[in-house]
Amino acid sequence: MIFLAKVAEVPDGERKLVQVNGVSVALFHHEGRFYALNNACPHRQGPLIRGTLEQTAEGGRCFIRCPMHGWRFDLATGDSHGRPGNATVYPLIRQDDELYITL
Ligand code: FES
Repeated sequence: MIFLAKVAEVPDGERKLVQVNGVSVALFHHEGRFYALNNACPHRQGPLIRGTLEQTAEGGRCFIRCPMHGWRFDLATGDSHGRPGNATVYPLIRQDDELYITL
């Protein structure tokens, strides 16, 4: 388990790029939930941290749209909906006011 960030560092609606053991992790805080993804889009390594968040009516799911070519990924699962690669999502653990992940 690796320390990622303090909860207070990423208010709801914000995002933060964190380097963890040489990996760029895009941390999102969206409507009370935190999500951690590998920042590199599986298509051509576009920076997901600069993507557009999209909320849909699909069970309240939230997506990140890559700023490079528009592939869309489920924030919680990394699912790319038929594209030939999913985003890597890291399990997040919250302990009090700190967030941890496993790579
Ligand atoms: S690099 Fe992300 S869609 Fe192409």
